[in-house]
Amino acid sequence: MAQTTDPGAFWDEKFDRPDYRYGTEPNAFVADVLPELLEHDARVLCVGDGEGRNGVWCAGQGFETTSLEPSAVGIEKIKRLADKEGVKINTIHDRMPSDEVQDQHFDAVVLIFVHTPEPMRQAIHESCVKALKPGGVIVLEGFTPDQRRNDRPSGGPPSLELMFSVDILRHDFATMDLETLTEQTVQLDEGPGHRGPADVIRMIARKPV
Ligand SMILES: C[S@@+](CC[C@H](N)C(=O)[O-])C[C@H]1O[C@@H](n2cnc3c(N)ncnc32)[C@H](O)[C@@H]1O
Repeated sequence: MAQTTDPGAFWDEKFDRPDYRYGTEPNAFVADVLPELLEHDARVLCVGDGEGRNGVWCAGQGFETTSLEPSAVGIEKIKRLADKEGVKINTIHDRMPSDEVQDQHFDAVVLIFVHTPEPMRQAIHESCVKALKPGGVIVLEGFTPDQRRNDRPSGGPPSLELMFSVDILRHDFATMDLETLTEQTVQLDEGPGHRGPADVIRMIARKPV
């Protein structure tokens, strides 16, 4: 099944397992940078939050957190993880762009490994910018083409066209101030789905005031 047709059904199949495909701990980049970037009462939108590891961690930090996810199985697992951790989280079962996401409402958008074909990619990125208040930040991590060129088994989509590069992100986030934009090889330890050396790009982009 292609992700283009229905990301919800595509990811339902992947998340329909007893364990958490990408673990239950937050992405290392998110955990590293988000507390420094936000006030304690910030509003955070986790887009494509999967099984909720990042959203639930954000809620645990005290941020008012919303997880948006197209997979119904993912949404159930997000709620289950939030209950287990004893945190409150808002969920939106939808894909981006979503009418349920209010414009200029969030202090941060967390966008971790959300790889989609064009033109969906640009539409998602545009809608993430719209969701941010002026001064708000997007924290993004994704795989680069090197992940496939280096034949890494540590995750990511099969095709080079779905990957991110500096040029692609500069284009999609041309209206934003790019505070961090770096390609690097990192060691992933994120459940069975992302484990081992990986070629990624990390971005912090701020919406001008
Ligand atoms: C590789 S998983 C990453 C999940 C999560 N961000 C994490 O890092 O654990 C990609 C996620 O992107 C979501 N996704 C795909 N298309 C989307 C869209 N148009 N809007 C929002 N999320 C989408 C999928 O449902 C899936 O949960």
